[in-house]
Amino acid sequence: MSDRVNFGSKLGIVLATAGSAVGLGNVWRFPYMTGQNGGAAFIIIYLGCILFLGVPGMVSEFIVGRHSQSNTARAYASFSSNKGWGAIGILGIITSTIILGFYAVVAGWCLYYLGESVVGNLKGDPAFVQSYFQAFSSDPVKPAALGVTFILITHFIIVRGVRDGIERASKLLMPLLFILLVVIVVASCSLPGASKGIEFLLKPDFSKVGPNVFLEALGQAFFSLSLGTACLCTYASYFSRHTKLHYSATQIAVIDFIIALLAGLMIFPAAFSVGVHPDSGPSLIFITLPTVFQQAFSFSPQLGYVISIMFYALLVFAALTSTISMHEIGTAFFHEELMMKRSAAAWILTGVCSVLCVLCSLSVGKAEIGLFGKSLMDFCDFVTAQLMLPAGALLTSILVGWVASKRMVREEFTNFETVRGKSLFPYYMFCVRFLVPVSILMILMHQFGLI
Ligand code: TRP
Repeated sequence: MSDRVNFGSKLGIVLATAGSAVGLGNVWRFPYMTGQNGGAAFIIIYLGCILFLGVPGMVSEFIVGRHSQSNTARAYASFSSNKGWGAIGILGIITSTIILGFYAVVAGWCLYYLGESVVGNLKGDPAFVQSYFQAFSSDPVKPAALGVTFILITHFIIVRGVRDGIERASKLLMPLLFILLVVIVVASCSLPGASKGIEFLLKPDFSKVGPNVFLEALGQAFFSLSLGTACLCTYASYFSRHTKLHYSATQIAVIDFIIALLAGLMIFPAAFSVGVHPDSGPSLIFITLPTVFQQAFSFSPQLGYVISIMFYALLVFAALTSTISMHEIGTAFFHEELMMKRSAAAWILTGVCSVLCVLCSLSVGKAEIGLFGKSLMDFCDFVTAQLMLPAGALLTSILVGWVASKRMVREEFTNFETVRGKSLFPYYMFCVRFLVPVSILMILMHQFGLI
């Protein structure tokens, strides 16, 4: 078990958890989901999911992880007398492996856009930028190769034990990403016609929300917080006894929401200004951003050039801190449970995810390569975010709220009665026992037409 100590510094670990949360979920998935679901109204429902279901859900995973101090499957198994609960951990490992498979495709796109912006290939009118993305994403080789490259980079960071460096770097780079986002938001909002985009994001029109809006908001909230795959549980197993769980969860959720909102404010004003449809789907940021960098910085193309490179580089970094967290779950499990060497464990994961990544990449925009009328890429996204993550969070809240000993849960929540804000415990208990499971069940049943 000595490897556990090497995971990172005590302070760095909360930062690493935030790094896991902030990623393409905020900058890529949130804007496209918001665009497809009617804008501001979706954001309100999304915020409700984050606050009332996401934060208590995060605290529950933290409690399980910190209590057990071991890998996900063992953590869940040790949390009650019935070892069957370890299945939540296994479900989490499967979910995060699938997510890593398709997430790497998008991370590969970002890597490509980083390279192309350095070379200066992303210049042209909006129609050119759109067809550029189309041609690239349907190429059979390039995006798949870049996706696999991204998984390999993740692999080597995990195996070589350089995560400490990554954590230290994120202390600098995450705030930098934040500042850069603010700069781009200001530039994007100053484009002609941008106010329509701002209105789309901030003025709710409930008549525009799509039929699946609740499940999509819930799935997006869980995806963005890295909730429901025991990923947070793995990180919490390295938390110290003094980490204030409810405080950290709230802090991370707030940061995560603000970054997502900024990403929206970066994309929509520009999209409306240049005539990109808000419901363009997964391609939304890739067909909007190059235009933002050209038009919003037309007063100084050099500045636009530098900002675009910095932005894609930071986005790649943010994606990397997320893929590390997904990879770590399975690696820790194989390493500790099957007594494998850490590098062998990591190779298993890398192999499986790479195959999935190639298949997902080939399927982009092609429903023939897929299941149930969706391309494999869309199918993996749907199954994980909208079914497996809610299921993981639902089971976790049942375990923590109803099965585990209340005294043990209270001790973890209150850091053995030492933490400030321990009077929040009854509210937390209400959430895990009733609010979270009932809401998730109702949303799932609504989706399947049962209520
Ligand atoms: N939350 C990350 C993002 O927003 C993605 C992510 C990392 C994730 N680890 C996860 C999603 C585990 C679900 C489960 O980009």
